[in-house]
Amino acid sequence: MKYHRPRGTQDIVPPNVYTWRYVEGVFDSTFLRFGYQPLRTPIFESTDLFLRSVGEATDIVSKEMYTFLDRGGRSLTLRPENTAAVIRAYLDGGMHRVAGISRLSYIGPMFRYDRPQAGRYRQFHQVGVEAIGNLSAMLDIEVIEVVMTALSELGFEGLNVKLNSVGCPVCREDYTTVLGEALEKHMERLCDDCKVRARINPLRVFDCKRDSEVKKELPSISDHLCDECSSHFAIVRSLLRAVGRSFELDPQLVRGLDYYTKTTFEILHGSLGAQNALCGGGRYDNLVEQCGGPSTPAVGFSAGLERIISVLPAGVDQERSLIPRIDFYVACADEDSAERALKAANVLRTFGNVEVDASMRTLKTQLKHAEKTRARVTVIVGADSPHRLRWKDMDERSQVEVEDDGLRSFADEHSKHGNEGMA
Ligand code: HAM
Repeated sequence: MKYHRPRGTQDIVPPNVYTWRYVEGVFDSTFLRFGYQPLRTPIFESTDLFLRSVGEATDIVSKEMYTFLDRGGRSLTLRPENTAAVIRAYLDGGMHRVAGISRLSYIGPMFRYDRPQAGRYRQFHQVGVEAIGNLSAMLDIEVIEVVMTALSELGFEGLNVKLNSVGCPVCREDYTTVLGEALEKHMERLCDDCKVRARINPLRVFDCKRDSEVKKELPSISDHLCDECSSHFAIVRSLLRAVGRSFELDPQLVRGLDYYTKTTFEILHGSLGAQNALCGGGRYDNLVEQCGGPSTPAVGFSAGLERIISVLPAGVDQERSLIPRIDFYVACADEDSAERALKAANVLRTFGNVEVDASMRTLKTQLKHAEKTRARVTVIVGADSPHRLRWKDMDERSQVEVEDDGLRSFADEHSKHGNEGMA
């Protein structure tokens, strides 16, 4: 083999692709049920968008972006996440001028130059929603309910929702001072990266995968919330209890992106190992303004499809029944019959899925292959019968001859009956 897929990427091949489509479909229909409209944004954006929104001191921006200059000398970046892009599109498209809440959903590939391992890829896929335009804690609950509803439809049970509040710039100012002082005391024990983080953006020390012992001894943001953030967090907790959603407080859950304010959450799965977050999200009340729009609060989540699919509960992965069945297999016995076979296939496509055997192998081999595909009907076209096709019902093991010209009405009559059991 001369070429391989780039490190950290995956080919999603049949039949696995049907599992993907199924999972994407469950999210898609859940998004619609909650009133979220699908949005598609470009795969690359101007680099500056991510520097400003995700934050220069984050691992995503400082280590993981695929950034390049285009031929016009513009710095562009393959999107490492989609929230910033959704907000850019929201403003670009003038959605902020429409009163009320914009509920947007998305699905698509994201790119991060991270060290590949189980559950961590360089190209991965996220589904997510963003609810833009209101401060109400009801929306924080709504986005958690969106993802939990989809996951529960996929068969997940007993998932762990981790919850925290990272406050707002007002409470963060005091907290950053307190945290900075605490970090000073532990400077010796910090890794080299965290020594830098402690100076530039101390909150990012909590993203460190190594300094877990030091982190336990640091003050928590949730103990330093201002009155407004504290009251919002209390309402979120009480509404979550009211809707029967269990959660666990995690004072260290600051999330690896700078735009968050107030609520942050993650949904973890026990058997995922180190990369155990199926989903992450939270409120980001200042991002729209930071991107040049009016002050507009927002909240959302994104979930990683690779991780969800890797731990789909047993029995929910209905791959086999998800694979669309071939309804008609057209066997072409000889080259002289090619034209008739193609015409027959075109007629049959009105009634179902058609696979044409273009191999010119012996008829016996073609019929064997038709069995393998689990085709419902095999239509045999051959020069030995120049105006008639053989219609072989593979389930009933019966065969009749049909005039080429009569194929449409015959198929019409017989497909209605045959389609009843089809997926
Ligand atoms: P995030 O936590 O960076 O948040 O990513 C969300 C999810 O994407 C993770 O929980 C994980 O399932 C998946 N994910 C992230 N990185 C990788 C990777 N390298 N390989 C495989 N899966 C990965 C965000 O991206 C925010 N935009 C979420 C958000 C939306 N906040 C508000 N709205």
